[in-house]
Amino acid sequence: MTAGKRGALLGLVLTSLALPAGAEGARGDMLAGSCAACHGPEGQSPGAIPAIAGIAAEDMARLLSEYRSGALEGTVMNRIARGFTDDEIAAIAAYFAALR
Ligand code: HEC
Repeated sequence: MTAGKRGALLGLVLTSLALPAGAEGARGDMLAGSCAACHGPEGQSPGAIPAIAGIAAEDMARLLSEYRSGALEGTVMNRIARGFTDDEIAAIAAYFAALR
């Protein structure tokens, strides 16, 4: 690889690292990655686990907060929701609300 190509590659890596930190949408996108294992790519679950794409942001935020507090009981969602702050829940809710 030439030095020039290496420089260009490094630039790409740095740009993609720098982007998510800024935008709220990109952050929701990053956090949402961990949901895909169960809820399917982009929240469109094909199986028994409920699809979560397109849930209104305020409903999603309420559901996650209720799982977090224990007001809503699930099998796995309580443990998962406890890992997120209010800001992160808002970012996740905005991300899935935009997927329809
Ligand atoms: C380990 C698998 C798993 C992961 C990872 C997971 N979920 Fe869930 N989710 C479930 C299951 C199973 C349910 C049904 C409730 C329960 O049993 O906890 C559920 C329910 C939900 C519901 C309620 C849906 C409804 O219609 O009532 C929401 C909202 C939700 N999950 C959001 C998320 C978000 C956002 C993430 C990522 C931050 C996530 N889940 C990650 C398995 C998972």
